Amino acid sequence: MAETKSVGVVGSGQMGSGIAQLAATYGLHVWLVDTDSDALSRATTAISSSIQRFVSKRLLSEAAGADALARIHFTTNLQELSSVDFIVEAIIESEDVKKKLFTELDKIAKKSAILASNTSSISITRLASSTTRPHKVIGMHFMNPPPIMKLVEIVRGADTSDETFYATKALAEKFRKTIICSQDYAGFIVNRILMPMINEAFYALYTGVATKEDIDIGMKLGTNHPMGPLELADFIGLDVCLSIMKVLHANLQDNKYAPCPLLVQYVDARRLGRKQGIGVYDYRNLSQEAKPSARL
Ligand code: CAA
Repeated sequence: MAETKSVGVVGSGQMGSGIAQLAATYGLHVWLVDTDSDALSRATTAISSSIQRFVSKRLLSEAAGADALARIHFTTNLQELSSVDFIVEAIIESEDVKKKLFTELDKIAKKSAILASNTSSISITRLASSTTRPHKVIGMHFMNPPPIMKLVEIVRGADTSDETFYATKALAEKFRKTIICSQDYAGFIVNRILMPMINEAFYALYTGVATKEDIDIGMKLGTNHPMGPLELADFIGLDVCLSIMKVLHANLQDNKYAPCPLLVQYVDARRLGRKQGIGVYDYRNLSQEAKPSARL
Protein backbone atom coordinates (compact mmCIF):
# COMPACT_ATOMS: atom_id res chain seq x y z
CA MET A 1 0.00 0.00 0.00
CA ALA A 2 1.58 3.28 -1.14
CA GLU A 3 1.86 6.01 1.49
CA THR A 4 -0.37 9.06 0.96
CA LYS A 5 1.87 12.08 0.38
CA SER A 6 -0.48 14.60 -1.15
CA VAL A 7 -4.11 15.45 -0.48
CA GLY A 8 -6.72 17.40 -2.37
CA VAL A 9 -9.59 18.91 -0.40
CA VAL A 10 -12.63 20.16 -2.29
CA GLY A 11 -14.72 22.75 -0.47
CA SER A 12 -13.08 25.36 1.75
CA GLY A 13 -15.78 25.84 4.41
CA GLN A 14 -15.29 25.03 8.10
CA MET A 15 -14.73 21.34 7.44
CA GLY A 16 -12.66 21.56 4.25
CA SER A 17 -10.33 24.23 5.62
CA GLY A 18 -9.93 22.29 8.88
CA ILE A 19 -9.09 19.07 7.01
CA ALA A 20 -6.59 20.93 4.79
CA GLN A 21 -4.95 22.42 7.90
CA LEU A 22 -4.74 19.03 9.57
CA ALA A 23 -3.15 17.37 6.53
CA ALA A 24 -0.64 20.19 6.09
CA THR A 25 0.25 20.12 9.79
CA TYR A 26 1.15 16.44 9.44
CA GLY A 27 3.49 17.16 6.52
CA LEU A 28 1.31 16.44 3.50
CA HIS A 29 1.13 18.66 0.45
CA VAL A 30 -2.38 19.98 0.18
CA TRP A 31 -4.45 21.45 -2.63
CA LEU A 32 -7.51 23.23 -1.24
CA VAL A 33 -10.05 23.82 -4.01
CA ASP A 34 -13.16 25.99 -4.00
CA THR A 35 -15.07 27.54 -6.90
CA ASP A 36 -15.48 30.70 -4.79
CA SER A 37 -12.26 32.70 -4.41
CA ASP A 38 -13.77 34.69 -1.51
CA ALA A 39 -14.34 31.42 0.33
CA LEU A 40 -10.66 30.57 -0.25
CA SER A 41 -9.63 33.92 1.25
CA ARG A 42 -11.80 33.26 4.29
CA ALA A 43 -10.26 29.78 4.56
CA THR A 44 -6.74 31.26 4.47
CA THR A 45 -7.63 33.55 7.38
CA ALA A 46 -9.33 30.76 9.36
CA ILE A 47 -6.40 28.36 8.87
CA SER A 48 -3.82 31.03 9.82
CA SER A 49 -5.70 31.94 12.97
CA SER A 50 -6.20 28.30 13.99
CA ILE A 51 -2.50 27.55 13.41
CA GLN A 52 -1.70 30.63 15.51
CA ARG A 53 -3.76 29.18 18.38
CA PHE A 54 -1.65 26.01 18.27
CA VAL A 55 1.55 28.10 18.13
CA SER A 56 0.52 30.29 21.06
CA LYS A 57 -0.15 27.16 23.14
CA ARG A 58 3.30 25.82 22.10
CA LEU A 59 1.72 22.77 20.48
CA LEU A 60 3.38 23.82 17.23
CA SER A 61 6.53 25.88 16.69
CA GLU A 62 6.28 29.17 14.79
CA ALA A 63 8.34 27.61 11.95
CA ALA A 64 6.23 24.43 11.79
CA GLY A 65 3.09 26.56 11.66
CA ALA A 66 4.49 28.66 8.81
CA ASP A 67 5.62 25.50 6.96
CA ALA A 68 2.15 23.96 7.32
CA LEU A 69 0.51 27.05 5.83
CA ALA A 70 3.07 27.10 3.01
CA ARG A 71 2.21 23.47 2.15
CA ILE A 72 -1.39 24.45 1.33
CA HIS A 73 -1.99 25.52 -2.23
CA PHE A 74 -5.28 27.43 -2.54
CA THR A 75 -6.91 27.17 -5.96
CA THR A 76 -10.20 27.52 -7.84
CA ASN A 77 -9.06 24.99 -10.45
CA LEU A 78 -10.22 21.41 -9.85
CA GLN A 79 -7.89 20.16 -12.61
CA GLU A 80 -4.96 20.79 -10.27
CA LEU A 81 -5.98 17.64 -8.39
CA SER A 82 -4.77 15.44 -11.26
CA SER A 83 -1.65 14.27 -9.43
CA VAL A 84 -2.74 14.01 -5.77
CA ASP A 85 -2.90 10.64 -3.99
CA PHE A 86 -6.05 11.20 -1.96
CA ILE A 87 -9.01 13.56 -2.38
CA VAL A 88 -11.46 14.52 0.36
CA GLU A 89 -14.73 16.08 -0.75
CA ALA A 90 -16.18 18.54 1.79
CA ILE A 91 -18.78 20.49 -0.18
CA ILE A 92 -22.45 21.12 0.60
CA GLU A 93 -24.58 18.26 1.91
CA SER A 94 -26.49 17.61 -1.34
CA GLU A 95 -26.41 14.19 -2.95
CA ASP A 96 -26.88 15.53 -6.49
CA VAL A 97 -24.13 18.13 -6.18
CA LYS A 98 -21.76 15.63 -4.58
CA LYS A 99 -22.45 13.03 -7.29
CA LYS A 100 -21.65 15.55 -10.03
CA LEU A 101 -18.40 16.38 -8.28
CA PHE A 102 -17.46 12.71 -7.88
CA THR A 103 -18.08 12.11 -11.59
CA GLU A 104 -15.79 15.03 -12.38
CA LEU A 105 -13.13 13.99 -9.86
CA ASP A 106 -13.17 10.48 -11.31
CA LYS A 107 -12.16 11.94 -14.68
CA ILE A 108 -9.51 14.29 -13.26
CA ALA A 109 -7.82 12.18 -10.57
CA LYS A 110 -5.08 9.68 -11.34
CA LYS A 111 -6.23 6.05 -11.48
CA SER A 112 -4.65 5.14 -8.13
CA ALA A 113 -6.20 8.09 -6.26
CA ILE A 114 -8.74 7.48 -3.50
CA LEU A 115 -11.89 9.62 -3.53
CA ALA A 116 -13.18 10.17 0.00
CA SER A 117 -16.26 12.03 1.12
CA ASN A 118 -16.59 13.94 4.37
CA THR A 119 -20.37 13.61 4.06
CA SER A 120 -22.21 13.61 7.37
CA SER A 121 -25.01 11.32 6.23
CA ILE A 122 -25.23 10.60 2.49
CA SER A 123 -24.76 7.07 1.13
CA ILE A 124 -21.16 6.34 0.12
CA THR A 125 -22.41 3.52 -2.11
CA ARG A 126 -24.52 5.97 -4.11
CA LEU A 127 -21.69 8.54 -4.36
CA ALA A 128 -19.36 5.72 -5.50
CA SER A 129 -21.84 4.70 -8.18
CA SER A 130 -21.30 8.03 -9.92
CA THR A 131 -17.65 7.04 -10.59
CA THR A 132 -15.88 4.29 -12.52
CA ARG A 133 -13.88 3.40 -9.40
CA PRO A 134 -16.34 2.46 -6.62
CA HIS A 135 -13.63 0.32 -5.00
CA LYS A 136 -11.64 3.53 -4.42
CA VAL A 137 -14.50 5.55 -2.88
CA ILE A 138 -14.92 5.78 0.89
CA GLY A 139 -16.44 7.92 3.63
CA MET A 140 -13.92 9.76 5.82
CA HIS A 141 -16.01 11.80 8.21
CA PHE A 142 -14.20 14.35 10.35
CA MET A 143 -15.79 16.18 13.27
CA ASN A 144 -15.90 19.94 13.60
CA PRO A 145 -13.37 21.46 14.24
CA PRO A 146 -11.18 18.86 12.47
CA PRO A 147 -7.86 20.04 13.92
CA ILE A 148 -9.21 19.59 17.48
CA MET A 149 -11.71 16.73 17.48
CA LYS A 150 -10.13 13.32 18.03
CA LEU A 151 -12.45 11.20 15.90
CA VAL A 152 -12.68 10.08 12.28
CA GLU A 153 -15.63 7.95 11.24
CA ILE A 154 -14.80 5.65 8.31
CA VAL A 155 -17.61 4.38 6.13
CA ARG A 156 -17.15 1.66 3.53
CA GLY A 157 -19.50 1.63 0.57
CA ALA A 158 -20.75 -1.66 -0.85
CA ASP A 159 -17.69 -1.92 -3.16
CA THR A 160 -14.95 -0.17 -1.16
CA SER A 161 -11.82 -2.33 -1.31
CA ASP A 162 -9.74 -3.40 1.68
CA GLU A 163 -6.80 -1.49 0.18
CA THR A 164 -8.83 1.74 0.12
CA PHE A 165 -10.00 1.14 3.69
CA TYR A 166 -6.48 0.53 5.02
CA ALA A 167 -5.04 3.55 3.20
CA THR A 168 -7.80 5.74 4.68
CA LYS A 169 -7.27 4.30 8.14
CA ALA A 170 -3.51 4.90 7.84
CA LEU A 171 -4.14 8.52 6.87
CA ALA A 172 -6.49 9.11 9.81
CA GLU A 173 -3.90 7.52 12.12
CA LYS A 174 -1.22 9.80 10.70
CA PHE A 175 -3.49 12.66 11.83
CA ARG A 176 -3.55 10.97 15.29
CA LYS A 177 -7.27 10.40 15.18
CA THR A 178 -9.21 7.57 16.76
CA ILE A 179 -11.13 5.64 14.14
CA ILE A 180 -14.59 4.17 14.24
CA CYS A 181 -16.12 2.19 11.39
CA SER A 182 -19.73 2.45 10.34
CA GLN A 183 -21.90 0.55 7.92
CA ASP A 184 -23.16 2.69 5.06
CA TYR A 185 -26.56 3.62 6.51
CA ALA A 186 -27.92 7.17 6.69
CA GLY A 187 -26.18 9.31 9.29
CA PHE A 188 -23.62 6.58 10.05
CA ILE A 189 -22.91 6.40 13.81
CA VAL A 190 -22.38 9.93 15.11
CA ASN A 191 -25.10 11.82 13.26
CA ARG A 192 -27.60 8.97 13.61
CA ILE A 193 -27.48 9.70 17.34
CA LEU A 194 -26.43 13.36 17.55
CA MET A 195 -28.90 14.87 15.08
CA PRO A 196 -32.07 13.40 16.63
CA MET A 197 -30.83 14.83 19.94
CA ILE A 198 -30.37 18.28 18.40
CA ASN A 199 -33.75 17.97 16.64
CA GLU A 200 -35.36 17.03 19.97
CA ALA A 201 -33.79 20.12 21.57
CA PHE A 202 -35.50 22.19 18.84
CA TYR A 203 -38.80 20.43 19.64
CA ALA A 204 -38.31 21.24 23.34
CA LEU A 205 -37.82 24.91 22.42
CA TYR A 206 -40.66 24.86 19.85
CA THR A 207 -43.17 23.38 22.31
CA GLY A 208 -42.13 25.72 25.12
CA VAL A 209 -40.59 23.17 27.45
CA ALA A 210 -37.86 25.65 28.41
CA THR A 211 -35.78 28.59 27.23
CA LYS A 212 -32.91 27.98 24.83
CA GLU A 213 -30.44 28.82 27.59
CA ASP A 214 -31.95 26.32 30.03
CA ILE A 215 -32.08 23.57 27.39
CA ASP A 216 -28.37 24.10 26.69
CA ILE A 217 -27.35 24.43 30.31
CA GLY A 218 -29.37 21.31 31.12
CA MET A 219 -27.42 19.22 28.65
CA LYS A 220 -24.04 20.83 29.44
CA LEU A 221 -24.22 20.45 33.19
CA GLY A 222 -26.63 17.52 33.30
CA THR A 223 -24.75 15.30 30.86
CA ASN A 224 -21.30 16.93 30.67
CA HIS A 225 -21.48 17.83 26.99
CA PRO A 226 -19.00 20.58 26.01
CA MET A 227 -21.78 22.53 24.28
CA GLY A 228 -25.55 22.48 24.67
CA PRO A 229 -27.44 20.98 21.68
CA LEU A 230 -28.75 24.33 20.41
CA GLU A 231 -25.36 25.98 20.75
CA LEU A 232 -23.84 22.98 18.97
CA ALA A 233 -26.42 23.26 16.19
CA ASP A 234 -25.38 26.89 15.67
CA PHE A 235 -21.74 25.75 15.61
CA ILE A 236 -22.37 22.99 13.04
CA GLY A 237 -24.76 25.15 10.96
CA LEU A 238 -28.55 24.85 11.07
CA ASP A 239 -28.68 24.17 7.32
CA VAL A 240 -26.30 21.23 7.79
CA CYS A 241 -28.40 19.89 10.70
CA LEU A 242 -31.58 20.19 8.62
CA SER A 243 -30.00 18.43 5.62
CA ILE A 244 -28.91 15.55 7.83
CA MET A 245 -32.38 15.23 9.42
CA LYS A 246 -33.90 15.15 5.93
CA VAL A 247 -31.50 12.37 4.89
CA LEU A 248 -32.34 10.37 8.05
CA HIS A 249 -36.06 10.92 7.53
CA ALA A 250 -36.03 9.99 3.83
CA ASN A 251 -33.72 7.00 4.11
CA LEU A 252 -34.82 5.42 7.39
CA GLN A 253 -38.48 6.18 6.66
CA ASP A 254 -39.47 6.76 10.24
CA ASN A 255 -41.35 9.86 11.39
CA LYS A 256 -39.25 10.06 14.51
CA TYR A 257 -36.66 11.73 12.22
CA ALA A 258 -39.03 14.44 10.95
CA PRO A 259 -37.22 17.78 11.18
CA CYS A 260 -38.67 20.11 13.81
CA PRO A 261 -40.69 22.95 12.17
CA LEU A 262 -38.67 25.51 14.17
CA LEU A 263 -35.41 24.21 12.68
CA VAL A 264 -36.97 24.41 9.22
CA GLN A 265 -38.19 27.95 9.88
CA TYR A 266 -34.77 29.17 11.10
CA VAL A 267 -33.15 27.80 7.94
CA ASP A 268 -35.86 29.43 5.80
CA ALA A 269 -35.05 32.70 7.56
CA ARG A 270 -31.32 32.17 6.83
CA ARG A 271 -30.64 31.95 10.55
CA LEU A 272 -27.91 29.42 9.86
CA GLY A 273 -25.88 29.70 13.06
CA ARG A 274 -22.50 31.17 13.89
CA LYS A 275 -21.33 31.37 10.30
CA GLN A 276 -24.27 33.71 9.54
CA GLY A 277 -23.97 35.69 12.78
CA ILE A 278 -27.39 34.47 13.89
CA GLY A 279 -29.02 31.11 14.51
CA VAL A 280 -30.73 30.04 17.71
CA TYR A 281 -28.50 32.68 19.32
CA ASP A 282 -27.49 36.08 17.99
CA TYR A 283 -23.71 36.31 17.66
CA ARG A 284 -23.63 39.79 16.16
CA ASN A 285 -21.96 42.30 18.49
CA LEU A 286 -21.81 39.77 21.31
CA SER A 287 -19.15 40.32 23.91
CA GLN A 288 -17.32 37.25 25.24
CA GLU A 289 -19.35 37.47 28.47
CA ALA A 290 -22.64 37.45 26.56
CA LYS A 291 -21.98 34.15 24.77
CA PRO A 292 -24.69 31.48 25.20
CA SER A 293 -22.93 29.58 27.95
CA ALA A 294 -21.82 32.66 29.91
CA ARG A 295 -24.24 31.82 32.73
CA LEU A 296 -22.17 28.76 33.60
N1 CAA B 1 -8.21 25.74 16.03
C1 CAA B 1 -7.30 25.67 17.03
N2 CAA B 1 -7.64 25.58 18.32
C2 CAA B 1 -8.96 25.57 18.61
C3 CAA B 1 -9.97 25.65 17.62
C4 CAA B 1 -9.55 25.73 16.28
N3 CAA B 1 -10.41 25.78 15.26
N4 CAA B 1 -11.17 25.61 18.22
C5 CAA B 1 -10.94 25.50 19.54
N5 CAA B 1 -9.60 25.48 19.77
C6 CAA B 1 -8.96 25.29 21.06
C7 CAA B 1 -8.86 26.55 21.86
O1 CAA B 1 -7.67 27.28 21.60
C8 CAA B 1 -8.87 26.02 23.30
O2 CAA B 1 -7.63 25.52 23.69
P1 CAA B 1 -7.18 25.48 25.25
O3 CAA B 1 -8.26 24.76 26.01
O4 CAA B 1 -5.88 24.75 25.25
O5 CAA B 1 -7.09 26.91 25.63
C9 CAA B 1 -9.78 24.85 23.19
O6 CAA B 1 -9.76 24.41 21.83
C10 CAA B 1 -11.14 25.20 23.63
O7 CAA B 1 -11.60 26.28 22.82
P2 CAA B 1 -12.43 27.53 23.34
O8 CAA B 1 -11.99 27.90 24.72
O9 CAA B 1 -12.44 28.56 22.27
O10 CAA B 1 -13.90 27.05 23.34
P3 CAA B 1 -14.47 25.77 23.96
O11 CAA B 1 -13.86 25.46 25.27
O12 CAA B 1 -15.94 25.93 23.88
O13 CAA B 1 -14.02 24.63 22.94
C11 CAA B 1 -14.73 23.27 21.22
C12 CAA B 1 -14.39 24.67 21.63
C13 CAA B 1 -13.44 22.41 21.14
C14 CAA B 1 -15.32 23.37 19.82
C15 CAA B 1 -15.70 22.63 22.27
O14 CAA B 1 -16.73 23.54 22.56
C16 CAA B 1 -16.32 21.36 21.80
O15 CAA B 1 -15.72 20.30 21.85
N6 CAA B 1 -17.58 21.47 21.33
C17 CAA B 1 -18.31 20.33 20.76
C18 CAA B 1 -17.87 20.16 19.34
C19 CAA B 1 -18.52 18.99 18.70
O16 CAA B 1 -19.36 18.29 19.25
N7 CAA B 1 -18.13 18.76 17.45
C20 CAA B 1 -18.70 17.70 16.65
C21 CAA B 1 -19.87 18.23 15.95
S1 CAA B 1 -20.64 16.98 15.01
C22 CAA B 1 -19.79 16.95 13.63
O17 CAA B 1 -18.87 17.67 13.36
C23 CAA B 1 -20.26 15.94 12.69
C24 CAA B 1 -21.17 16.43 11.66
O18 CAA B 1 -21.18 15.83 10.60
C25 CAA B 1 -22.14 17.51 11.86
